[in-house]
Amino acid sequence: MIASPPGAAGSAVIREARGDDIVRLLELEDSAFDEEAWTREMIEDELAGPDRRYFVVEVGGRVAGYAGVFLGLDSAEIMTIAIEPAVRRRGLGRRLMETLLDCARQAGLGQVMLEVAATSPPAINLYKSLGFEEIGRRLRYYQPSGRDALVMRLWLGPVSLNQHNHRPLA
Ligand SMILES: CC(C)(COP(=O)(O)OP(=O)(O)OC[C@H]1O[C@@H](n2cnc3c(N)ncnc32)[C@H](O)[C@@H]1OP(=O)(O)O)[C@@H](O)C(=O)NCCC(=O)NCCS
Repeated sequence: MIASPPGAAGSAVIREARGDDIVRLLELEDSAFDEEAWTREMIEDELAGPDRRYFVVEVGGRVAGYAGVFLGLDSAEIMTIAIEPAVRRRGLGRRLMETLLDCARQAGLGQVMLEVAATSPPAINLYKSLGFEEIGRRLRYYQPSGRDALVMRLWLGPVSLNQHNHRPLA
């Protein structure tokens, strides 16, 4: 058996987030979103909120990223995703996103929505590579920075996939 290289996405473990992850999630928020990071109270509310699923990715036993999704009545919404700067571009963000999309599929939802800062090419490229399409823009959506948000949507299900996605989901 060939072991995955240290730190590669293949050696990472994804699990549900727990209450005792909160201090680490706060660190990840600060490193990813700076002045727009969620507060402890916001993260606690999200983890405890109904119809939400939050996951962490561990590398070498250390939480290296997290992401969450809200599962609504007919659509899902990606709430956040952040990977520790030192281990970005190793496929961890993609694995977390695929986990969230699986949740939406298992819930039988027809589409997944998200907002992303218009100034974040890494995140926009990640979402596009998964089949998301830009459908709108919210001006000065993020505060205090005043950055615009792009609104993106991914259709789920065989009919929508044929009509709207140019790349198959991995
Ligand atoms: C966006 C983010 C989660 C991506 O995580 P990651 O683990 O580095 O992403 P992956 O390694 O899985 O990359 C998946 C794809 O995303 C895109 N991508 C990731 N980083 C990129 C970069 N620096 N530049 C351009 N594209 C990038 C690529 O399409 C990449 O696929 P490829 O490596 O085959 O080219 C990470 O950069 C991050 O935490 N950013 C700060 C927080 C943030 O902006 N979150 C989004 C909020 S809406």
